[in-house]
Amino acid sequence: MNPAVIELRNGVYWVGVKDWARRTFDGLIPLPHGTSYNAYVVRGSAKTALVDTVNPGFEGELLAKVGVVVDPAELDYVVMNHAEPDHAGAIPAVLAAAPRAKLVLTAKGAEMVVRYYPVPRERMQIVQDGEEVDLGGRTLRFIDAPFLHWPETMFTYAVEDKVLFPCDFFGAHTAAGVYADEVADLPLRAQMYFGEIMMPFRKAGERALKKLAGLPLELIAPSHGPLWRQPERILSLYRRWTAGETRPKVVVGYVSMWGSTERLVRVAAEALLGQGIEIAVHELSHVDVGDLAGDLVDARAIVLGAPTVLGALHPAALHAAHLVRTLRPPLRYAAVLSSYGWGGGALRQAGEILGPTGIEVVGAVEVHGAPDADAEAQVGALAAELAAKVRGSR
Ligand code: FEO
Repeated sequence: MNPAVIELRNGVYWVGVKDWARRTFDGLIPLPHGTSYNAYVVRGSAKTALVDTVNPGFEGELLAKVGVVVDPAELDYVVMNHAEPDHAGAIPAVLAAAPRAKLVLTAKGAEMVVRYYPVPRERMQIVQDGEEVDLGGRTLRFIDAPFLHWPETMFTYAVEDKVLFPCDFFGAHTAAGVYADEVADLPLRAQMYFGEIMMPFRKAGERALKKLAGLPLELIAPSHGPLWRQPERILSLYRRWTAGETRPKVVVGYVSMWGSTERLVRVAAEALLGQGIEIAVHELSHVDVGDLAGDLVDARAIVLGAPTVLGALHPAALHAAHLVRTLRPPLRYAAVLSSYGWGGGALRQAGEILGPTGIEVVGAVEVHGAPDADAEAQVGALAAELAAKVRGSR
């Protein structure tokens, strides 16, 4: 195989790996389009750096690509922006092939890296926020950007080239394309990725964006997905998403056993549509976590439809409710619709899960058995109340 290396700038190269076949991440997130582990070589007149590495299993491919540009033994620096194995997993192999290279990382990164890989302390070069290394006519600046999405994360900035290497931040899970403008659905993929990975860390994201303000940027080169050569495209999206800007949109997540809960959900969905509210409906027993997370990024409300099973929320709804609590979307309002055969429990449990989130539960409708006209009227009224709140807030 001839390894593909892409020259992004004179002396700046993409040496990453496309993982076309990967189908899940973290045992949780579907990857219908695979993903990429982007890594970069930056060459100065005196020294050479590798920025990030790749997922375990691709060490040979990475080193072959680095070898197209420079003998790996001549690497002076290996920059670890993030310790998670999809970017740091090849560090032991790279350090073995590059005996004089220093591993550049944050102090927190130094604590974390040894939990995963056998990296001797004397190979590490800990950098502070704003510190630079001179490669000879080319400068790398390191920017602390913690909790995006692990405690040790940082960005690397190629000063003269105006290229930012932000690792996970601004990424997307797709193996398609090289540049963002070549991938039609990339804004959607980026939104899903933000929902899955970055949404719980919106405040940290806002802080990082403030640090980037005023920094000249011509290329944003994340470690997953295509590269943004019109940086403002992704910056403007991230400003909205990290700020928690919502739209008059309602996520409707439901699961039903014998059609009663589904009937309630259909009444609510039709009523919301009739009120001109955008809805995003997810049947939860087959939900794609990425689709759901992406919709939660800018939705203003959620309708949770879930029957009682054995005195508790249906497990598929329990999973979704737990995701809502842990992903911390900017939802303002919720409504719960439920049915039971001989004893409730779903409503109580939904309240327990949603209660600590700060999301206002506007109301709930629960039916014993199949819904009658009175129950449907209650749902219609609840949906109208929810629509009014969704329209009237930001
Ligand atoms: Fe792509 Fe947090 O690793």
